[in-house]
Amino acid sequence: MPKTTDKALTIKDLMAMKQRGEKITCLTAYDASFSALLDQVGIDVILVGDSLGMTVQGHDSTLPVTLTDMVYHSRCVTQTKKRALVIADLPFMSYTNPQQAAENAAKLMQQGGVQMVKLEGAKVDIISFLVANGVPVCGHLGLLPQFINQLGSYAVQGREPAAAQQMIDDALKLQQAGASLLVLECVPASLAKAISSQLEIPVIGIGAGVDCDGQVLVLHDMLNISVGKKPKFSKNFMEGNGAIDTAIAAYHQAVKQQSFPTDEHSF
Ligand code: KIV
Repeated sequence: MPKTTDKALTIKDLMAMKQRGEKITCLTAYDASFSALLDQVGIDVILVGDSLGMTVQGHDSTLPVTLTDMVYHSRCVTQTKKRALVIADLPFMSYTNPQQAAENAAKLMQQGGVQMVKLEGAKVDIISFLVANGVPVCGHLGLLPQFINQLGSYAVQGREPAAAQQMIDDALKLQQAGASLLVLECVPASLAKAISSQLEIPVIGIGAGVDCDGQVLVLHDMLNISVGKKPKFSKNFMEGNGAIDTAIAAYHQAVKQQSFPTDEHSF
C-alpha cells in the first residue's frame, strides 16, 4: 500500500484512520535519508525518538540525549519528509515543569520543524499547558525508558491488575488533558486492546499487541542493524527482503494488514 499523495498528514487524518479502522504505521528516523525513504514508502508517522541515544550515539540508555541533539536530528528529518507527520521526543529532564516543557517544545517545533512532541508518563499538568499553548502532544505510557534507573529493567509493565487499572486511568487522564496520540510500550496485548478501545485518540503500540490503532518500531531494530540484543517485540524485516526499502515496505504492509505484530512479538 504505497502512498498515493504527498499531502502532509495531520492529527485529523490520524483520527480518521482510527475511526475507519485503518492501522497507522510509524517508525523512528534520525536523519534526512531515512526520513525521505520512510516517507516515500508511505509510513504515516516518523518518530524522532530519543532512542537515538542508543542507535546513533552508542549510549546504553536514552538519558544522555540533550535537547540540542533532538533539535538537530528533528531538523535533519523534517528537511526531507513531505507527507508523514513528525513527532520528536522531549528528552530526559527537559519537561520538569510546564514553562520548561513549553520552551523546549517550542524549540523542537520552531527549529526542528516537528508537528508534535512526545513525553513520558502521566504528566497531565504539563500536557494541558502545552496543548493550551498550541503544542500537539503524544503521551507515552507502559515502559518508560527515561525512568530506567527507577525501573531497574526494560520489563513488561501493567501485568498486575492494580498496575493495569492505573494505566487505563492514566491513559484517560492524558486524553482528557488534550493529548492527540498515545504510545504504549511493552504492555500485555489484552491491556493495550482495552486502552485502545476506551480512548478516542489513536494508540500506537510497541510490544503492545496487534489491537492498537497503529504500530511503531525502532528503525535500527527492524532493519537488524542495532547493536546488542533485539527486543522480543521487534522483527527483522530484512529477512526475506533484499533491500532496505522493501523491508520498510514489508513492515508498512504487515501493519496495515495486521499480520504484524503476531503473538510471537506480544506479551
Ligand atoms: O525513542 C523511541 O524510539 C521511542 C519508541 C520506542 C516509542 O520512544
